[in-house]
Amino acid sequence: MYDFDKLMARENTNCAKWDAAEKGLLPMWVADMDFQSPPEVIAALLERARHGVFGYSGGCGGWFEALMQWMTKRCGWAPQREWISTGPGVVAALYMLVRALTEPGDRIIIQPPVYRPFYNVASSNGCELLENPLYFDGGKYRMDMEQLKQMVDSRVKLLILCSPHNPVGRVWSREELLALGQFCLEHGITVISDEIHSDLVFPGFKHRVLASLSKELEQNTVVCNAPSKTFNIPGIQASNVIIANESLRSAYRQVLRGSGLALPNVFAVAAVEAAYTYGEAWLEELLLYLEENYRLAGSFIAERIPELKIVEPEGTYLLWLDCRGLGLNDEELDSFIKGKAKLLLEPGTIFGTGGSGFQRMNIACPRSRLLEALQRLEEAVGG
Ligand SMILES: Cc1ncc(COP(=O)(O)O)c(C=O)c1O
Repeated sequence: MYDFDKLMARENTNCAKWDAAEKGLLPMWVADMDFQSPPEVIAALLERARHGVFGYSGGCGGWFEALMQWMTKRCGWAPQREWISTGPGVVAALYMLVRALTEPGDRIIIQPPVYRPFYNVASSNGCELLENPLYFDGGKYRMDMEQLKQMVDSRVKLLILCSPHNPVGRVWSREELLALGQFCLEHGITVISDEIHSDLVFPGFKHRVLASLSKELEQNTVVCNAPSKTFNIPGIQASNVIIANESLRSAYRQVLRGSGLALPNVFAVAAVEAAYTYGEAWLEELLLYLEENYRLAGSFIAERIPELKIVEPEGTYLLWLDCRGLGLNDEELDSFIKGKAKLLLEPGTIFGTGGSGFQRMNIACPRSRLLEALQRLEEAVGG
């Protein structure tokens, strides 16, 4: 019913992904999709624009109701309305949360390879970043609980979890999340759970909201999610910050207000409510399309570029490509991908410790474009 094959020209639209790319390179880097958003989202934005008066927004009643129903239905967890605050994006919310919940000198744990801004967020507000790298058993990435036990002391105040995990594509299981959550509870560490990719999960896997796993975890977790990846509206700049714990919540709201960011953009209010209210059928089709794209990339690479390996994704539209078989160092690999394959991917080193030898490829694009990218890779490796 929806046309994900349609090739959208994105050049000259002030678009980071395409307009910042060097001419001739196929951009498959930053995490947005080359698809139009659900028609209902476009219609809601047009209707809001047609009204023509764009005064301050006030109240997000429709947004919050729609989000509560969305999460109840899709995640089996019903946040209460008063737990929800907004943010102008997840990254902005992460920075504000660090300001709200730490003192200079506190320590914050992240688990690389991970979404690059986590590094800067965890080093903000005078905090000290600690890394608990994931380990790769050759098939799957896992959280290293033993290493975590070694590194924790009373100065560790926060752990920023990426769930599902960008870039390695893990959808953490209930058991893994419970083990981590329990450990953090026992050590007085609050968890900020960045669940921005939670709607993008492949069949056979299930996203669990960390806060949904027990009443204690509900009180110890800040859930950040958003409609931005799900419905391809990151440029609308809207996110949700869901905090059951009253004192954590009021600390966040104080920083949000103190930053002058308490009132969301009027277009965000219209788009988010429409997306969560009417976007489900579109999302279901998108997920089938993305899964097919992943299968195409998987079989193409296995059959025609055996030097590369895909780390099997459980969610997200980001493929984590193991390029170590090419025998190149990171600098050589980057110039090979750009100069020879003519692709713009994200070098694994951007994601910090554990990223060496990998590249991240965004496959949320029409299949013909994905095929072109794969052919460019094949020719580059073969030639
Ligand atoms: C884990 C994670 N968090 C946050 C973001 C960005 O969120 P926002 O655009 O809402 O700041 C991304 C984008 O790729 C991401 O992967």
